[in-house]
Amino acid sequence: MSQPQFTPRVFSGIQPSGGLTLGNYLGAIKRFVQMQDADFETIYCMVDLHAVTVWQDPTDLLRNTRELAAGFIASGISPDKSILINQSQVPEHAQLGWVFSCVARMGWMQRMTQFKDKAGKNAQNVSLGLFGYPALMAADILIYHATHVPVGEDQKQHLELTRDIAAKFNHDYGVDFFPLTEPVIEGAATRVMSLRDGSKKMSKSDPSDASRINMTDDADAIAKKIRKAKTDPDALPSEVAGLEGRPEARNLVNIYAGLNDQSVEQVLAEVGGLQFGAFKPMLADLAVAKLSPISAEMARLMNDPAEIDRILAKGAGQAREITAPILQKTYDIMGMVR
Ligand code: TYM
Repeated sequence: MSQPQFTPRVFSGIQPSGGLTLGNYLGAIKRFVQMQDADFETIYCMVDLHAVTVWQDPTDLLRNTRELAAGFIASGISPDKSILINQSQVPEHAQLGWVFSCVARMGWMQRMTQFKDKAGKNAQNVSLGLFGYPALMAADILIYHATHVPVGEDQKQHLELTRDIAAKFNHDYGVDFFPLTEPVIEGAATRVMSLRDGSKKMSKSDPSDASRINMTDDADAIAKKIRKAKTDPDALPSEVAGLEGRPEARNLVNIYAGLNDQSVEQVLAEVGGLQFGAFKPMLADLAVAKLSPISAEMARLMNDPAEIDRILAKGAGQAREITAPILQKTYDIMGMVR
């Protein structure tokens, strides 16, 4: 089926289920800022309806949603250039989410590795929402007819499912209505790993705070976590091939490259031959230099939560100008009386 022309439009989201990590920043937010400043309409979202697929304390959810919004703005997302929203204020996300629950197949959902990881052996006891989550994620994207979605590597499978849902809807109704969205998984740090275990993703839900750098960590905490990060006894290689079989070394080099907007090759050309005792302080200095202005600005913005709420309310109004007509058209295609 030929793809009709869609306006180049970016959508992405982050769960307000805890603080922002360096993984979120390097894997997602840095790209959000770049795409905002390129030739795209950009919509960025705190996905509160996704967060509640596992229980959230209401006070924490409120705070985390505002803090996430503060993190976006402090990182360079401008409410004048991008539409900034929390998902629950734009009801068309959940409405199209229901439609897509009726398009997606059980077998597709059962293949989602993130669900398997999150549910673990407990699959009978997790919420139905956690299982259906990827259908809502597809709706988040397609309710804007978004063409590009910047994410970290771990979201790739969900974006493939989004394309499958769009294609099945288009096929079942004989239309060219939903675009086949392109994932944008770019940069040196699309999968930032735990500082304690190079085989595990850095995550806000890891019980060990030492495993991650939080965007709100102060300079001492950042330096300490990097100093204690797991490494191996060898010096850094000068070539990428020398990182083979050294996940912790690779991770720290990727983080350095991501923070400094360099390629891994460029970083290794500079630091090849150094021991970790010399490299870790360089990495800590770089991380503090890049992250502390952001955390300071987040703290300043958090002093005025009413201003954050105002920005999100304005964003919701702008978003609904896009989402309401797309939902109406979807219902028309499906034969709903309006
Ligand atoms: P979430 O909240 O887990 O993560 C938000 C973004 O951060 C990226 N990310 C990472 N990137 C590199 N290394 C890491 N260690 C790391 N940890 C997280 C994620 O890939 C993601 O881009 N399902 C999504 C939220 C979502 C969404 C959407 C995203 C809901 N609807 C629509 C895009 C479009 C999630 O749970 O992300």
